[in-house]
Amino acid sequence: MTNKELRDKFIEFFESKKHVNIPSFSLIPENDPTCLFISAGMQPLIPYLAGEKHPEGNRLCNFQKCIRTNDIDEVGDDTHLTFFEMLGNWSLGDYFKEDSIKWSYEFLTSEKYLNLDKNYLAVTCYKGNKKYNIPKDTESYDLWVKNGISPKKMAFLGDDDNWWPKIDMNGLCGPDTEIFYWTGDSTPPLEFDPEDDNWVEIWNNVFMQYKFDNGKISELENKNVDTGMGLERVLCVVNNYNNIYESELFKDVILELEKLSGKLYKNFISQMRIIADHARTATFILSEKNKITPSNSDKGYILRRLIRKVVRLAKEIGIPENISITSNLAEIYIKKFKNIYPELLENKDFIISELKKEEDKFELTLDNGIKEFNKAVKILKNNNKKIIPGDVVFRLYDTYGFPFELTKNMAKIENLNISEEDFCNRFKKHQEVSKKGSDKKFKGGLADNNYETVKLHTTAHLLIEALRRVLGDHVFQRGANITQERLRFDFSHPNKLTEEEIEKIENLVNKKIKEKIPVICKEMCLDDAKKCGAMGIFDNKYGNNVKVYQIGDFSNEICGGPHVENTSELGVFKIKKQESSSAGVRRIKAVLLKE
Ligand code: ALA
Repeated sequence: MTNKELRDKFIEFFESKKHVNIPSFSLIPENDPTCLFISAGMQPLIPYLAGEKHPEGNRLCNFQKCIRTNDIDEVGDDTHLTFFEMLGNWSLGDYFKEDSIKWSYEFLTSEKYLNLDKNYLAVTCYKGNKKYNIPKDTESYDLWVKNGISPKKMAFLGDDDNWWPKIDMNGLCGPDTEIFYWTGDSTPPLEFDPEDDNWVEIWNNVFMQYKFDNGKISELENKNVDTGMGLERVLCVVNNYNNIYESELFKDVILELEKLSGKLYKNFISQMRIIADHARTATFILSEKNKITPSNSDKGYILRRLIRKVVRLAKEIGIPENISITSNLAEIYIKKFKNIYPELLENKDFIISELKKEEDKFELTLDNGIKEFNKAVKILKNNNKKIIPGDVVFRLYDTYGFPFELTKNMAKIENLNISEEDFCNRFKKHQEVSKKGSDKKFKGGLADNNYETVKLHTTAHLLIEALRRVLGDHVFQRGANITQERLRFDFSHPNKLTEEEIEKIENLVNKKIKEKIPVICKEMCLDDAKKCGAMGIFDNKYGNNVKVYQIGDFSNEICGGPHVENTSELGVFKIKKQESSSAGVRRIKAVLLKE
């Protein structure tokens, strides 16, 4: 089965169950400062799972690009990736456990769809939580058994395994039931052992019916279903492959790596897999319309780390330096995915040139590192020392991106030793610090629709219209990012704003706030929305039916919401800062002050 066939089958199946296929969203979360990338198909749907009405109805399905970096150390094994695609189906307060489980079972086992042997399936359910008085999910257990899963293939597990996203984390949540597939060489054992790695999770059905709020749990009015199935993993099991890299998604990339390095995959499995994974993730990040570039913070930092890791591993397996490995592989991935994700082809030049640029920068950094190493060696030798201290080795690693192994090899050539223990201690400490930082950032992205961010979202609608009226019709929104504290807004405009322009824009927004205009939401088909002159965000993908938010006759925008009900809720609008974002794009940071 090809990846296209799998996608088509999934969508066809859920369409036959009255779901509407919605487009895959961008990898970059809109209005969600708590996470760097979309890490689950449900993330862009949070407002609707929380009760907002979705214009396409209450049964949705899609495939969604996702990035997860919390499993990055696992990449290289048989099943983990940093970029993956998630097939998902959602019930927004419509069907619940019974249909969800019945349909998952049907899709997996029926001849017309995946035709998997039910004896190769196993399932876990939630065992309950006494502290929060959440019952054991025997209902799901019974439903699985009723559908045909043997009780021997079932297990009840706790918060860490069968609660999504994380117990005690604020936001929408609920118990889940996870479906596993036996990937061992032998036939599956009669009894399911969740600890056995040959059982690979392929699908997760979350019964999202609660909300956590600082230690308190409450029931939602809506009982939702949120499911996520890993496309790469399912492709692997339906085709009887041993691991995800054997599928058509990666096969020719691995062959290319063998060709470029002159080495056999079987001798460099982990390196070649990591290269294949990271290069794909970097390619997709660079294809985003927000134009992320390698840097030392946030998304740019992840991108930089991925590219540099590829370059380092490419050296390790002997790929010649004059080959730009990341852009080489990007070409393959662009070709492979361009029909599903047209943004790859649209941004091809940018992707390739950014990859090449970052590789060049890294080469320079490495050259500088070698100079630094030689300097340190000279001093040591002059002082008759035989050991390179841990802080020098760590500096090479941390500042110059030198892998420890490389430093060790260079030291050997110089007949020197390395204080390995000291390096390891420093390294561990560094990892703890950066893990703390990343835990904060990769929570899984279930930000609450906090009132302050909703207010700033409505403000953004007023702002874009004010910008167009003051500066001209050439102004379009190019990006927005909202935290509880401020609105960051990018728009097309060639010049720095003058003081008078800023004042005019602020006055116009504040005038509309004072006019106490109701914010009205209308649902219509995309063509009607365009006909009534609703603005859309530059290059966004929309489904057939959309919501249009209108603020009097001032603003008219296609948008998913949520918004405040009346502009009088907003306070006083103030532009705090302006800067250039990229060529021809200005950036404003603005806040709402209390009156
Ligand atoms: N949101 C659930 C997950 O990502 C389905 O596993």
